[in-house]
Amino acid sequence: MADYRAHIEPIREAIHHVLEGGRYILGEEVAAFEREFADFLGIGHAVGVGSGTDAIHLGLRVLGIGAGDTVVTVAHTAVATVTAIELSGAEPLFVDIDPDTYTMDPALLEAAILSGANVKAVVPVHLYGHPANMPAIMEIARRHGLAVIEDCAQCHGALCHGRMTGTWGDLAAFSFYPTKNLGAIGDGGALATDNRAFAEKAAALRQYGWKNGNISEWSGGMNTRLDEIQAAILRVKLRALEKSNHRRSEMAGIYDTLLASTPLVLPCSPADGSHVFHQYVVRSHNRDGMRAYLMENGVHTQIHYPVPAHLQPAYRRLAAGEAALPVTERTCGEILSLPVHPGISRQEATMVCELLLQWHSTTRLPT
Ligand SMILES: Cc1ncc(COP(=O)(O)O)c(C=O)c1O
Repeated sequence: MADYRAHIEPIREAIHHVLEGGRYILGEEVAAFEREFADFLGIGHAVGVGSGTDAIHLGLRVLGIGAGDTVVTVAHTAVATVTAIELSGAEPLFVDIDPDTYTMDPALLEAAILSGANVKAVVPVHLYGHPANMPAIMEIARRHGLAVIEDCAQCHGALCHGRMTGTWGDLAAFSFYPTKNLGAIGDGGALATDNRAFAEKAAALRQYGWKNGNISEWSGGMNTRLDEIQAAILRVKLRALEKSNHRRSEMAGIYDTLLASTPLVLPCSPADGSHVFHQYVVRSHNRDGMRAYLMENGVHTQIHYPVPAHLQPAYRRLAAGEAALPVTERTCGEILSLPVHPGISRQEATMVCELLLQWHSTTRLPT
């Protein structure tokens, strides 16, 4: 859950400050957070919104993408990515993932673009904190004249080829859901961009399309505002983000070292980049047995995500035939997320590894 205890005093003060000020929506805390978050990313503008889902949806509206358009993304993601595309009126089109990074396989992107659908944009997802292959995705998107919105819900602070994720595409959508690397104490999100016109349009569309004097400049406005209390809390937690990402890396380092002798497939390290370990995901052919053993021994794990979007009842209409996304489908049956949030201790991470070593030494099933 939210790692708020480490910051309890400054968070109390921040909330108190907002309550004393008496302004709860789009005030000085949101403006300050937007500036500080944009500076952290090294980008011109950040626009605070109500959630990560809204940030993707708003990004598509800013680009004028909607009914009749197609947006390419992955099915191996939080289903929110797909919901957000659907909310814009556009149709999602899925491409398979790379088996090592679990992110969009750029080699398959071009085929999807050429498939005949009216593709207008690409939404790559930096899943688990590992950057997608942005140089390859941007090259293909630019060659075909497509816009790119990065789904950065899980990658706050991750680098891709030495450059911050969220600064590659035309726009980048962040979530501040409490469990994210930068998490609020409630819902929140942001849209980041270097394009001033996009930022102005996003700031208007998040609030009924208002621009000057509460007059709507654009139709299709929404009500999706980051509130002052969440912004004040995010300002406190942003100051600790690098430290908490470092702590996640330390936990990941313990898993990497102690699990190296097992047959588990461990997360790969990005070439010339960084992984911020929103999740530490291992792969095993015997995932369910291993998970049950951990559970019996008091270790709670999760599966991100057990059913890929195209096989969920709401989106089966988007599945292009049997086994259309073989890597995605195989991956979903084998993955397990081990505890990696900054609240766990080294001893707890070591204990998880010891259990996994024990399990592998006694089970005779293939891993
Ligand atoms: C990859 C991804 N995209 C989008 C979202 C949506 O974010 P939110 O829950 O803030 O709407 C999430 C969060 O669950 C996510 O993990």
